[in-house]
Amino acid sequence: MEILTLLTEFAKETLEGLTASQKYLSSKYFYDTNGSRIFQNIMQMPEYYLTNCELEIFETEKQRIFEALTENSTQYNLIELGAGDGLKTKVLLSHFHDQNAFFEYTPIDISEDAVKNLVLNLKQEVPGIKINGKVGDYFRLIEEINQYDHTKKILLFLGSNIGNYNENETLSFLNKLKSVMHSGYLLFIGFDLKKDPEIILKAYNDPHGHTSAFNLNLLQRINNELNANFILHKFRHQEVYNPQSGTAKSMLISLEKQEVEIHDLNKTVSFEKGESIFMEMSQKYDMKMIMDLANKSGFKIVRNFYDKRQYFVNSLWKLK
Ligand code: AVI
Repeated sequence: MEILTLLTEFAKETLEGLTASQKYLSSKYFYDTNGSRIFQNIMQMPEYYLTNCELEIFETEKQRIFEALTENSTQYNLIELGAGDGLKTKVLLSHFHDQNAFFEYTPIDISEDAVKNLVLNLKQEVPGIKINGKVGDYFRLIEEINQYDHTKKILLFLGSNIGNYNENETLSFLNKLKSVMHSGYLLFIGFDLKKDPEIILKAYNDPHGHTSAFNLNLLQRINNELNANFILHKFRHQEVYNPQSGTAKSMLISLEKQEVEIHDLNKTVSFEKGESIFMEMSQKYDMKMIMDLANKSGFKIVRNFYDKRQYFVNSLWKLK
């Protein structure tokens, strides 16, 4: 008990996950410095179609997106949750800026480095943009902004980030968002759509080995930060996609019976040969699932924007 209170969130969740009967780790911990670098490689590979689909939507639909998001309002704040490198958002921002729109852009991320770099980069690439980066908890920060900024807020949650939540987490996330949204606020979310399973499997089981490295890097992080002795080549990345439920799941499979010491947790974890650690969920949706989700969580769909292959949708929601 004593030791638990002194542990970081990362340590606590690792202990919980690796002692559960079905072992798991949380993909939110993928993004240490090395993990963020590997994720950049993933986003740039052609097999990871999601990046190009959303970019295509923004490039071809930017004027219609501008009209739908701003609805003729003269002043607003675009708040992006989990902004990352903001590469795709930049297309929208520079278009909005070219329309002489009077807006502020507030990227929020848990990574201080990501926010700093994004702010520097955007100031150079979209000169004159009003940008106010923030680091920390989305909901607390939106509430804080609501206190001093009374303009309309447009919340952006792009790039299929929502797909990394399970069903309960998705509903709880949308409910929390709803609680910080006032009337007139909008939510613009990216959803990856169900498609040929082969295409999905290639995106998450890529021939370059980036996704495998991304998953294994979390074991390396446990080695580095919690003093463990995972031997990475004794685990193999495995992707499984279920076309009915739309769930793509990443797992690491133990290639032999083995024991791993996690010194800082005072714990030895045993693995059977073939045993899996569930690493990440990447949910794929169909339009019915998206409509049900909006409805269940108290939102109404205003308009959907698709790429030409209909692999991806950016869906604009308002409060019901
Ligand atoms: C961040 N997130 C939307 C990515 C996804 O597609 O689920 C993370 C990722 N995992 C493996 N490849 C990309």
